[in-house]
Amino acid sequence: MLDYISEIRQRPVWQPADAATEGRFQTRLPRNATSLGEAYATFQQHILPFAVGNAHPGFMGWVHGGGNVVGMLAEMLAAGLNSNLGGRDHIPIAVEQQVVRWIAELFGFPHDASGLFVTGSSMANFIAVLVARTRALGAETRRSGMRGQEKSLVAYASTGTHGCVAKALDMSGLGSESLHAIGVNDQFCIDIDALQAAIADDRAAGKRPFCVVGNAGTVDTGAIDDLNALADLCQRERLWFHVDGACGALGMMSERLRPRYAGIERADSLALDFHKWAQVPYDAGFVLVRDRRLHQETFASPAAYLSRAERGMAAGSPWPCDYGPDLSRNFKALKVWFTLQVYGTQRLGQMMEGTCELARCLERRIAAEPELELLAPVSLNIVCFRYRGHPAASMWHDAPRRTELRSTELNSTELNPLNSELVIALQESGIAAPSSTLINGQIAIRAALFNHRTTQHEVDALCDAALKFGRKIKLLGIRP
Ligand SMILES: Cc1ncc(COP(=O)(O)O)c(C=O)c1O
Repeated sequence: MLDYISEIRQRPVWQPADAATEGRFQTRLPRNATSLGEAYATFQQHILPFAVGNAHPGFMGWVHGGGNVVGMLAEMLAAGLNSNLGGRDHIPIAVEQQVVRWIAELFGFPHDASGLFVTGSSMANFIAVLVARTRALGAETRRSGMRGQEKSLVAYASTGTHGCVAKALDMSGLGSESLHAIGVNDQFCIDIDALQAAIADDRAAGKRPFCVVGNAGTVDTGAIDDLNALADLCQRERLWFHVDGACGALGMMSERLRPRYAGIERADSLALDFHKWAQVPYDAGFVLVRDRRLHQETFASPAAYLSRAERGMAAGSPWPCDYGPDLSRNFKALKVWFTLQVYGTQRLGQMMEGTCELARCLERRIAAEPELELLAPVSLNIVCFRYRGHPAASMWHDAPRRTELRSTELNSTELNPLNSELVIALQESGIAAPSSTLINGQIAIRAALFNHRTTQHEVDALCDAALKFGRKIKLLGIRP
């Protein structure tokens, strides 16, 4: 794998697997043993070349970190120990707790804030919603569910919020419709006045506002909400203030970026991912909660077979299983601990600044190319743009500007817009792999520069290929 990483620039970012390769992974349960060498050869020849490619510097799709070799080695150590971090008295839990305190320190949370490693921010946001529900309705809801609740709870977040927040409300039993989506301003940040008005309207309609979710980097554009304004509002309205910092919050490691997050230290809870901007290998999501007691009340479930002791292996209560749904848990903390120890927050912060600087380079290049158009302000390290052809020419067949277009429509084949086709062409070329999204109803090429290996070379290659393929698709109406 060290060779793979050191030679990765010679590979395509991604390539589709052929039918024969797919077929290898549809065979039946093996009854007889194969040698380790043979299984490893299959890995080398038929799995490794067909990974999605996020370790590659040309990968710019969705929100994927590139990983780092220190974290990779730590994963091997963790697998060798084979620790279960649900509970019991052992030093791996002390390592996790040390990282919890480091993260509380980074974000200006109290020293005794609670934290938990989880798969990703989808789970971290879900846990935060459940703790917020406990604050609103009491721990009794864990037994009674929503029976007897006269007023329906409402949470608020901007329209730019990741879909996992609505899903968290769905899974919490409150229903995804209990998320009131609030419009954004021209910087794609939540409109605070609209939020204030929505809360007043909902209260007047007999509903019960309970939680506001702010974004420290939205998924589409990397916009950071005015977190101090949200904290003020939540204080006034006595609402839980949660921040989804999945893709952006760890920018707090950078001296230069830190002022952008002012107010994050006032959140009641925070979701973030080490596997994104901090380059820790998947998966390494994390939730931080200001009020440890409330967090514990939301999840602790006594059972005789998990009883605690003053001494022996069952000492050390409370255990991590008292803070989340998982009982069996792997040692994710170790790869984060190693990454933080070996690189330090200063260097990691500088790496993040570097990705923001690359995003600015891409923005400048787009501004200099009349055939390209920037579709959203560049807040951090995400750039949304489109190929529009020569502005003077009128014959181009992208999708019409439709503000009501929903993201689910992106998959529609009848739509077949130029920029969707262009993103697929870029991915299939192996040169650069952005993803697509909708910005104000227009299909955007979305380059999310989360990989520490990405350089100016890959950003230029993306632009050159976007221009080349854009011209071909537009003129010939065919795939390049
Ligand atoms: C802003 C935001 N929130 C939440 C998530 C979900 O995080 P995860 O994929 O780690 O579950 C993402 C993923 O990209 C995201 O960008």
